[in-house]
Amino acid sequence: MNRLWRNARLMTLVGEGLGIVEDGAIACREGRITYAGPAADAQRDADEVIDCEGRWISPGLIDCHTHLVHGGDRAGEFEQRLVGASYEEIARAGGGIVSTMNATRAASEEALIASALPRLDALIAEGVTTVEIKSGYGLSLEHESKQLRAARALGERRDVSVTTTLLGAHALPPEFAGDPDGYVDHVCETMIPAVAAEGLADAVDAFCEGIGFTPQQVGRVFAVARAHGLPVKLHAEQLSNLHGAALAARCGALSADHLEYIDEAGVAAMAEAGTVAVLLPGAFYFTRETRLPPIDALRAARVPIALATDCNPGTSPLTSLLLVMNMAATLFRMTVDECIAGVTREAARALGMAERIGTLEAGKRCDLAIWDIGQPAELVYRIGFNPLHARVWRGQG
Ligand code: NIG
Ligand code: FE
Repeated sequence: MNRLWRNARLMTLVGEGLGIVEDGAIACREGRITYAGPAADAQRDADEVIDCEGRWISPGLIDCHTHLVHGGDRAGEFEQRLVGASYEEIARAGGGIVSTMNATRAASEEALIASALPRLDALIAEGVTTVEIKSGYGLSLEHESKQLRAARALGERRDVSVTTTLLGAHALPPEFAGDPDGYVDHVCETMIPAVAAEGLADAVDAFCEGIGFTPQQVGRVFAVARAHGLPVKLHAEQLSNLHGAALAARCGALSADHLEYIDEAGVAAMAEAGTVAVLLPGAFYFTRETRLPPIDALRAARVPIALATDCNPGTSPLTSLLLVMNMAATLFRMTVDECIAGVTREAARALGMAERIGTLEAGKRCDLAIWDIGQPAELVYRIGFNPLHARVWRGQG
């Protein structure tokens, strides 16, 4: 069955900017784009022809950094922070990631799926067609695997592509109190091999931070991940500068994420390695961070910039990529073109999927978002308004 969308304006994202085609058409066969470009050059016949009535079509949106699957919530800690406690204080007092770990360990796989579905549905309702989901709240092989299986199951329950990331080195579980190196051994010797053997993860991530793991520990995790054929990425320079981004770049990481505290050497290392900067304005906003990621330096060095929700219960309980774009523009002064590229083309690159998704061009998956807007800037400009008209996943919908 082949389908043709006509009478559309396209943001193809091919090339550097938005790759706009004013009078455009997209043809699809077996879930893949066979043509995207000027209507005049498109085939005219198809099993189904869809008149878009002048609406805009972009690639389906990609949320390339989420912790969507987790037990419980941290609304109580949010209230504590409102009356003065800091994120780090709460974490050191046994709250934070460890409190979500307890709730996640206590939840069944089915309960994790059920609690994540409304969050996933919120993303989907705004045109998301691919979502990355990390573990990191199980912190043992049993519970990290459960989280990853729940993430994979979400991709079966909805018409959306899910990629999974093992974030075993997210926080120190109580069983290893006082022995972070022992836990890192466990991640390297037990968790990564088992998860890789079961095909549960598409990548490996870690949290490089004073309240997380040292660059040396992260380096060990990365070496084992690479030895198992898994690409790596890193939570780096979110609260301080431990030079994690440079380490990630040297290890050939797909992305380094957060980056508020990155320095010039880190930016240069990322540029040289082609590591994507994934910026997370929701976490910046929600933790009331004041240090901005160095957008000008990243731009000048031509580091690709992606944007994501970081959807998690502690620092970014956010399920809107449209709001992420508005925050990136307003808080980080990113341009409209950068924001839209950040949730499409560059997000695909951050997942190592640039060959398959992220732009509208022949050969890629036919994942589309069709918008009721007059111009692309409206996707970034509005706050809390969803102009999605229709969403297409692998040619369907
Ligand atoms: O991306 N920085 C570490 N991980 C998460 C927060 C996790 C949590 O507080 O539950 C983040 O911000
Ligand atoms: Fe995160």
